[in-house]
Amino acid sequence: MLRVRAPATSANLGSGFDTFGVALDRPSDVVTVEKADRTTIDVSGVGSRFIPEDPEKNTVGAVAEALDAPAHISIEKGVRPASGLGSSAASAAAAAVALNELYDRGKTREELVPIAAEGEAVVSGDAHADNVAPSILGGFTIARDDGVTCLDADISLVACLPEIVISTRDARQVVPEHARMSQVVETVRNAATLTAGIARSDPALVGRGMDDPIVTPARAKLIDGYDTVRQAAFDAGASGVTISGAGPGILAVCPGDTQRDIALATIEAFAEEDIEARAFQTAIG
Ligand code: HSE
Repeated sequence: MLRVRAPATSANLGSGFDTFGVALDRPSDVVTVEKADRTTIDVSGVGSRFIPEDPEKNTVGAVAEALDAPAHISIEKGVRPASGLGSSAASAAAAAVALNELYDRGKTREELVPIAAEGEAVVSGDAHADNVAPSILGGFTIARDDGVTCLDADISLVACLPEIVISTRDARQVVPEHARMSQVVETVRNAATLTAGIARSDPALVGRGMDDPIVTPARAKLIDGYDTVRQAAFDAGASGVTISGAGPGILAVCPGDTQRDIALATIEAFAEEDIEARAFQTAIG
């Protein structure tokens, strides 16, 4: 029997749609695996009633299939589903690491990224790796089809989770098919700025590089109060604010000693819109 913990993550960081991701130092999922003739799954913990236990419909079923590693898999959810914090990815990442070891498949952590991403396809229709990569490898990751680049960074963050449910599948349907050249140029400029900020652990640069003129404005319409909350976080000192993953979670970059004020400001701003929210102070893990 093997037990593996994998962290929540925040993908995109605005300018890096389907590319950038960061591991968060909390919360996390814990997956326990035991060899079996066929795969069975049980789920407990936060939001478990929303997660199917049928291996055909659960993210870890696809991972067990891809590794040819049938097992009884127990998932203890710490990462709330449909929150924008890579909930399905955390389970898939933990299962990939655990099953690889249980069956001695000999894959490297990097090789497990596309396998765990198969689990994402079950949930969202696309095998994007920007959540599973940091959940398996830690730090800040740039996920490409041909591999992953990792950087460590020391950046403080606040994640604010409103009581709104948005499925990744729905949030992917509003992503524009086309963009203007000027928007592409701005996005490239911001993504490069953000990467430099990560390399220097500079929250001002990371925050400035989060702006995204293409995907985020389309998705913001799905989150009641997004503009109010974003402005409140900036007013409380955030250097950057964006949608975490596919939403509805909001991610703010916190320079200096601003984390607590930013967390409170985001909760209050959602409350003004009659939306309950919880926020927690975290960091790139
Ligand atoms: N890159 C993905 C998206 C992350 O934004 O749709 C959510 O799984």
